[in-house]
Amino acid sequence: MLECTSTMSLVVVLIVLLFTWMYFNIRRPSGMPPGPTPYPIIGNVPILLEKKKLWNTFKDMTFKYGPIFSVKFGWYWGVVINNHDLTQEALLTKFNEFSGRHPSYTFDLSSDHGKDIVFAQPTPTWKFHRKLAHLAIRKFCTDGLESLVEKVIPKVGDVLSEKAGTPFDPKEVIKLAVYNIIASMCFGHEYNFKDPQLHKLMKVIDEINDAIGNCSILDFIPAARFLPSTSMNLGLFRKLTLEYFAIILTEVNQHLRTYSPDEPANDVIELLLKTQKDELETDSSASKLTDVHIKHIVSDLFFAGTDTSTASLLWAVACMMDNPDVQEKIKKELDDVIGDRPPRLSDRGKLPYTEAVIMEIMRYGTASPLGLPHRAIEDSTIGNYNVPVGTIVFINHWALHNDSKYWVSPEKFKPERFLDSTRTIKQRLPSFLPFSTGRRGCVGEALAKAEIFLIFSWLIQNYKFEKAPGETGNVAITGTCQLTHFPRPYQTVVHPRG
Ligand code: HEM
Repeated sequence: MLECTSTMSLVVVLIVLLFTWMYFNIRRPSGMPPGPTPYPIIGNVPILLEKKKLWNTFKDMTFKYGPIFSVKFGWYWGVVINNHDLTQEALLTKFNEFSGRHPSYTFDLSSDHGKDIVFAQPTPTWKFHRKLAHLAIRKFCTDGLESLVEKVIPKVGDVLSEKAGTPFDPKEVIKLAVYNIIASMCFGHEYNFKDPQLHKLMKVIDEINDAIGNCSILDFIPAARFLPSTSMNLGLFRKLTLEYFAIILTEVNQHLRTYSPDEPANDVIELLLKTQKDELETDSSASKLTDVHIKHIVSDLFFAGTDTSTASLLWAVACMMDNPDVQEKIKKELDDVIGDRPPRLSDRGKLPYTEAVIMEIMRYGTASPLGLPHRAIEDSTIGNYNVPVGTIVFINHWALHNDSKYWVSPEKFKPERFLDSTRTIKQRLPSFLPFSTGRRGCVGEALAKAEIFLIFSWLIQNYKFEKAPGETGNVAITGTCQLTHFPRPYQTVVHPRG
């Protein structure tokens, strides 16, 4: 009888402990923004598994909870910011407080615990790496980009001429152009469009993107790695990242054999190797640029620079097919201002309509709808709410770009919204942040804008894009829901313009 009573008491104590733990596990820290009630352990992870567009789900949640709300993903609390003013507060006014990155399990693994730029915490080493990346990108934009695009464009032209008049998916040829530009900046050489190494690189990046989608639950509940299906995906993710790094390391090793530290650096790898050598010689901060850092910086720039620009150009072609009048207006502006010669970067200021169309493509497609999650590195506030240290901070760029307070009929493609009454580009429009801003803003913004302008304006100058026969609806609509927002795969019919 006594034994039975003590077992009962133990069970009661365990149940009380379990409920107490559950209560604290799901209890919103005081002063945090409102949000859905989380389940114990998994929190609001079911939202992630819905296979919907997360940025749209978040935007819909604002109707219930307001422009900022909190969610619990697995073990971590997060806040989602969906409007301009709160985004400015988080990214600009409190740029330091929210400049961390969520220590995601998968990315920690693939970046050797943040030895890259994208997933590194905001340390002086990360700042130094960002500075080097900016330097390399700025040099490439002023010295190499235009002539490189002029070399790549005829290859794109060959493919388009071959396909003229028959429906085809433009994704591959756009990717080939973008990959060649980034390869030239990072490795100092382009590829032949048929080069197996280039196709291997494209394939592995595609596969890593697919695997990232499958691994995301791990980033919030690390213990999920012991589940059979997650551990299989994790294994695949590891294998793919090793394959990717092997390609990057082949390029780095090739440079080690051939580059001369006394000559000016011509590409990202040369710049990093040269900086490393200078650092070692002065012995000041040698450990700030190890071989591992070099591998990850190059990998980051390649990875971050390819999919986002490809997606933007795919949105561009799709929007042109849906809006043939816009396409003709660009063609006319190009004819009037530059005639037959290829567009140059210095033409940008003289082509306001073309520029406005590109900005509208960036808004309408929003290639990076949730950007990269930030993290509060100290206790802080956003609006009237508390945001404790460690909270993940999501900026919903999609919500900003579709906020009817700032955009009339945001669901419509209207380039004119970026032009003032004198047909001049409106500068610094609120609620428009395709590249994010502040301390962690996109490192490649200048390059992305320049390459998209050069490729897009050349395409419209020389080709007309039409919908495939039988395609009656809009083409520019959402496709897969990965980190990067691509339009649904589509076919186009291209006609060379005389
Ligand atoms: C249309 C093209 C692009 C778009 C829409 C885009 C957008 C973004 C966004 C939204 C972020 C997150 C910023 C944040 O955390 O607040 C980001 C970060 C980043 N982007 Fe881009 N990006 C593009 C092209 C590029 C290119 C061409 C490169 C380099 C070659 C690049 C390199 C990076 C890097 C390194 C980061 C991480 C910065 C950090 O964590 O400190 N991006 N980008």
